[in-house]
Amino acid sequence: MTQAKGLFVTFEGGEGAGKSTQIRRLADSLRRAGHDVLTTREPGGSPGAEALRHVLLSGAAEPFGTAMEAILFAAARNDHVENVIRPALGKGFIVLCDRFMDSSRVYQGVTGDLPSDLIDALERIAINGVRPDLTVILDLPASVGLERAQRRAGEQGLAGDPDRFEKEELETHERRRQAFLEIASADPRRCRVVDASSEADFVARSVLDEVEERLARGHAASAKTTVGAT
Ligand code: TYD
Repeated sequence: MTQAKGLFVTFEGGEGAGKSTQIRRLADSLRRAGHDVLTTREPGGSPGAEALRHVLLSGAAEPFGTAMEAILFAAARNDHVENVIRPALGKGFIVLCDRFMDSSRVYQGVTGDLPSDLIDALERIAINGVRPDLTVILDLPASVGLERAQRRAGEQGLAGDPDRFEKEELETHERRRQAFLEIASADPRRCRVVDASSEADFVARSVLDEVEERLARGHAASAKTTVGAT
């Protein structure tokens, strides 16, 4: 198994951290600079994984227990890796993924109380050697993130309909924030923590700087020009 020649960037963080906005902005900047970019998300991103997404986020799998949910997240991830992410990286794409393996570490491992050896084993099977080159952790106090997420849901007419994981207590969301920060300090080469409470423009610039640094180190051989900020 060879590590692909593209660049694999994952985005992690709690609810309302602004992952989708930042992914969209980064994708626009990179495309303008001539890169091939694929944006995707988890759970989901491939037809098989999108079917599992529905099962997981509707809460239909909740009665099976946290360990079985973790297995379903891993199954979805492996389908996504093998059918979408690995082939795109092999073609030299920059792949931007909204959540990946660290979400399982945090949501199923830390706040789901699953043992880390189980999480490690599932991760190994799911990612099968496809590790992110860069993980951007958008960091925000849980109360601010939840407020943002609720406001957004209200604007979209979805108020009162949180998903399986959004409906949990503030304290759980704060534990997740700390868990993401711990992952970042344990793996500083891969992870970058970005303060998501700053202005969106500033966050976008910081994220782009990180990606440019990785590109300068020789990833994503198809890079054509210097990337300009949005
Ligand atoms: P989603 O609607 O994609 O929203 P967001 O990423 O903006 O929070 O919800 C995905 C939910 O699934 C989210 O609450 C986190 C959870 N999740 C896990 O519990 N484990 C995982 O491995 C992944 C990828 C997501």
